[in-house]
Amino acid sequence: MSEPTEISFSILEDDDLETIVDLWMKCGLTRPHNDPHTDIAFARAQPNADILVGKRDGNIVASVMVGHDGHRGTVYYVCVDPDCQTKGLGRRTMAAAEDWLQQRGVWKLNLVIREENEKVFGFYEALGYEKEPRILMSRWIDPSKKPA
Ligand SMILES: CC(C)(COP(=O)(O)OP(=O)(O)OC[C@H]1O[C@@H](n2cnc3c(N)ncnc32)[C@H](O)[C@@H]1OP(=O)(O)O)[C@@H](O)C(=O)NCCC(=O)NCCS
Repeated sequence: MSEPTEISFSILEDDDLETIVDLWMKCGLTRPHNDPHTDIAFARAQPNADILVGKRDGNIVASVMVGHDGHRGTVYYVCVDPDCQTKGLGRRTMAAAEDWLQQRGVWKLNLVIREENEKVFGFYEALGYEKEPRILMSRWIDPSKKPA
């Protein structure tokens, strides 16, 4: 890995919205049934969630949606611009999310990796995350939102 690069994190502002959506698409994080604009608006409206944006030289190069449910913390949309990956920015991005959670008294972070994205397992493992013997279950409590 090359030398870590400078990056500073702040909460997403209106002006950066489209850049973040573009970054998520570039990083392959969007899905047809998850409209990024809806997800961003929903997260920004919550008191216990934020979208952190990582900027280097004024340019957005990373992001993470972080939040907690009153018990555990979680992250979504963790990404580093493909042109800037493998330089330690992903580690810095997760550290920013962990700091955000610790500032709110949350001491454990659970995250979900899609089966088809198993390659990022090594990234989280390098950061000290462990595979948990759990079964993740979900239900579309609003069936109208369920993808066809
Ligand atoms: C996952 C992602 C954020 C990693 O960002 P990054 O800037 O390349 O990661 P870093 O350079 O900070 O790597 C941190 C550590 O993880 C390791 N690592 C990173 N990617 C890895 C991989 N695919 N397999 C194994 N280890 C990996 C690095 O070697 C490094 O280890 P070290 O610090 O011990 O040397 C980036 O690849 C990305 O945006 N991927 C696309 C979006 C995505 O899949 N997000 C995750 C959704 S769950």
